[in-house]
Parts: sequence; structure tokens; C-alpha cells
Amino acid sequence: MQIANHPRNTETRPETSAGPPAPPAFNDLERRIFTRSAGVAVLGLGYVGLPLLVESSREGFDVIGVEADPTRVQQLIDGKSYIGDVTDEDVAQLAAGMLTTDHNVLSRADIVIIAVPTPLRDGTPDLTPIQGACEDIASVLRRGQLIILESTTFPGTTEDLVRPILEASGLVCSEDFGLAYSPERIDPGGTWTMRRTPKIVAGVTPSETKLASCFYSTLIDRVVETSSPREAEMAKLIENTFRQVNVALVNELATIAPSIGVDIWEALDAAATKPFGYMPFWPGPGVGGHCIAIDPSFLSWKVEQRMGFGIGFVEHARSVNNRMPAYVTGSIGEALNGIGLPLRGARLLVLGLTYKAGVNDLRESPSLHVLERLMAAGADCKYHDPYVPTVEVGGSRRDDLLKIPRGSPNTKRFQLSSVPIDDDLLSQTDCVVILTSHPGIDYQAMIESAGLVFDAVGVTRERQVGNVVRL
Ligand SMILES: NC(=O)c1ccc[n+]([C@@H]2O[C@H](COP(=O)([O-])OP(=O)(O)OC[C@H]3O[C@@H](n4cnc5c(N)ncnc54)[C@H](O)[C@@H]3O)[C@@H](O)[C@H]2O)c1
Repeated sequence: MQIANHPRNTETRPETSAGPPAPPAFNDLERRIFTRSAGVAVLGLGYVGLPLLVESSREGFDVIGVEADPTRVQQLIDGKSYIGDVTDEDVAQLAAGMLTTDHNVLSRADIVIIAVPTPLRDGTPDLTPIQGACEDIASVLRRGQLIILESTTFPGTTEDLVRPILEASGLVCSEDFGLAYSPERIDPGGTWTMRRTPKIVAGVTPSETKLASCFYSTLIDRVVETSSPREAEMAKLIENTFRQVNVALVNELATIAPSIGVDIWEALDAAATKPFGYMPFWPGPGVGGHCIAIDPSFLSWKVEQRMGFGIGFVEHARSVNNRMPAYVTGSIGEALNGIGLPLRGARLLVLGLTYKAGVNDLRESPSLHVLERLMAAGADCKYHDPYVPTVEVGGSRRDDLLKIPRGSPNTKRFQLSSVPIDDDLLSQTDCVVILTSHPGIDYQAMIESAGLVFDAVGVTRERQVGNVVRL
């Protein structure tokens, strides 16, 4: 078995490599990581946890997957993956007996990784899944275990929230058990593998940093240590805030470009030729997913609690991005107006509903918001998305758009199914609306067969055709 070259692939800050020797409770763990005889448990088997479990198993560790949702556990036991980047074959190599809803098995693991969700509820971070996971761990915590939080959260969570819950077990952090934070940088649908994506790691003390680095070095080529979990927690939020703010910048520019006679796509393509000091971002119907749409607000909320004001960049970026579905809907109405059709009653084919191309994730998807707005405006909508066979739309968001009072008997949810694209469908469509540019779709053929195309993501920008209107 090949053993990763720790510590050569670990960038250790000088001040973290010093410090007292590891407490006796951890004496054996480093050796057991090297020999792959350490047991690894992952709590929360979603987009982050399931790939991590699969990679740990592939690397030779005995793995345990604990997932609160029994349907998901049963799917995994049946050898079926529900995560786009994880195949059924990947799932089949996991031992069925080690996939469970029962957190009591966690006592058998040496390393326990928390990968539960961190949602926003009405603008406020909801850390109850982390709290619940920590209480589950605390109830079976034993000496010598290393607990690692991977969920995205604001600085201070590992030391101020996770640590006290675990210590309520009676065991002492950094003496009896270890605690570290390591943010996840998974790129769903992208080409960056877990192994090639550098991983940030920080323990509560240098010896926990060393242990956590030692473990991640077996899975990942480059491990980067920070001097405390706070910097690691902040680094993840900086990355996602950087992306949110830059997407908002190009979205805002896209909304003003027509008024000054500029083709924003051509201008952004031209700017992207600068080989230094510039990184391209592209406009679209908004931002979605569990990261970019949510994480920056975690940071802003935390700052607001401490300072009495949020982060201006984040708040402005959020409102620009959140306005985009309404802007795109209005622009589709204008495009239809250009060919003499009202939006109400127009026959639309919406292409792509997920928040990002090449994934099946609908969470916070702005494309879904656009679809609901179009339906609320009375358009006759069908959709095609190879990653989303069916979708439920409507409910309270549609009611808000239609100004239907909450709880009214008019509240409706609609189940829609993805329709196959063919010439018949295109001939009966007034406008094709491209909201997510999934791979494998013949956009050229679509442009040739469709009457009008509205392109919100620039996938047609190489083609100068009269029937295409771009954002
Ligand atoms: N999805 C991404 O691309 C991504 C990327 C980087 C970081 N993150 C962060 O990673 C964390 C997890 O995100 P995700 O996308 O994997 O979420 P997810 O919703 O896909 O998966 C989380 C899983 O945890 C389970 N769960 C909740 N509480 C549990 C408990 N107490 N015990 C066991 N299982 C429990 C849920 O049932 C769910 O299946 C979040 O903090 C997120 O912000 C996500």
C-alpha cells in the first residue's frame, strides 16, 4: 500500500510545528494513520461527506458513514449514489454494515469528521445541525479520538461552539480528544479532484494540527496549515465571498451595459485576455448552491453581531445577485415584446434549472426563481434539464409573486417534468430561455430551429444570430 509522503506535502507554519509534544492519548494515532489501521467516520453523507467517505475507503481506511436521513442510508446500502460526482461503483465499495443512522458506532472510529449542513434561516445562520452532530459525538466520545469539523461556518465555531459541547462529555479537548477544523473545497461538476485541491487544516493546538494534517495528507497532495481554526474558518468564507462579490460585479455591469450601448459578453471576453491582475467572472440569473449564495451572509451576520453593522460588500453583492431573477424575467418579457408577444400566455422552453452547469443540485438555484417568476407572470412554461427529471415549483414564493395571501386556498405547488427537446417542441415554442448551460446540449441546433432564444448565461455568444437575445 502506498503511503502518502507526509510531512513533505504539508506546508507547516513555523509557529505551529513547535509546541509541546502530543498528549499520550494521541501517541498511537499518527502511526495508525500511516499504516491505514485508523478508523474514519464521516457524519453527514451529502455533497461533502459522501465523497470524503469514498476517498477515505479507497485510501485503505476502515470507514463508517453516519447519515441522519434513513432514505439516503438505504440508497447507499442498495449501492445507489445520490450525489452527481459519486458513482454507484464508488458506493458499492463501501461496506453496507458501516452505513447507518446510528451515531453510537462513532465510538469505533479514531477520526470523526463532521460534514453536516449550515443553512441560513431568514438571514440568520442555523448551527443546529452542527450542534446536533456534536451532541451525538459527545454521547459516545472516547479518549484518543480526533474530531474534525468540515462544515462551512463563521470564525470561532470550532473553539466556541463545538469544543464546549464535546467537553460536556467530561473529556478535555487537546488532552483526551483532539479537535480541528478543515474547510471543504469540493467543486461539484468541476474538474478539480479532491486529491489535487489543496486543503486547509488547523487544530486547536499544534499537535492536533499535525494529526489532522497527517490524515489529510493521505488523501490530498497539498495540505496547508493555519495557526488556529479561526483563520481556517475565515479562509473558506473569504473564498466564497470573493466569488459572490465578483459575480455580483459582473451581474451589475450586465444590467447597465445595454443603456450605454455595450455588449457585456464581448467586453468581458476582451477583459479576460489580460494575463495578469484579472480573473474572469460571468453574469447570469444570480447565484445558487449551498456555498456562494449563503456563506458570505454567515460572515456578515457574525460581524453585525459583534460590530453592529454587516459587511457592505456582502450586503450589496447579495442584493445585486438576488435581483437578477427579476431582471432576467423582465428581459425575457422585453425580448418577447420585440417580436410582438406578451409574456402572459407565451410558450416558453426553459433550459437548465440547477444552480450550476453539470450538477443535479437545485439548492438556492436562481434558475428556479426565474421559472417561478415566468409562471407567476402567466407564461406557459416547459423545461428541459438532463439532471432534473422532475421538479416542484410554486408554493409560497409563487404566492408572494402573485400577491396571494399566505395560507390562502389558492396556494398551489406544481410538479413539472423535464421534456425531451425535438423539432416539434421547438416549433411550438415562442422562446427558448437558456438559464443553465449544461453540457451535452446542441445549442447550435437549438438556435437554428427555435424562433427566439433568450440566453442568460452567454453560451451562444460566439454565434452572431438575429434570433438570439443575450442578458
Ligand atoms: N455542497 C458543496 O459544494 C459544499 C462545498 C464546500 C463546503 N460545503 C459545506 O459543507 C457542509 C455540508 O454541505 P453539503 O452540501 O454536503 O450538505 P448536504 O445537505 O448535501 O449533506 C449534509 C447531510 O448531513 C445529514 N445530517 C444532518 N445532520 C446530521 C447528523 N446530526 N448526523 C448525521 N447526518 C446528518 C443530512 O441529512 C445530509 O444528508 C455545509 O456546511 C456546506 O456549506 C458544501
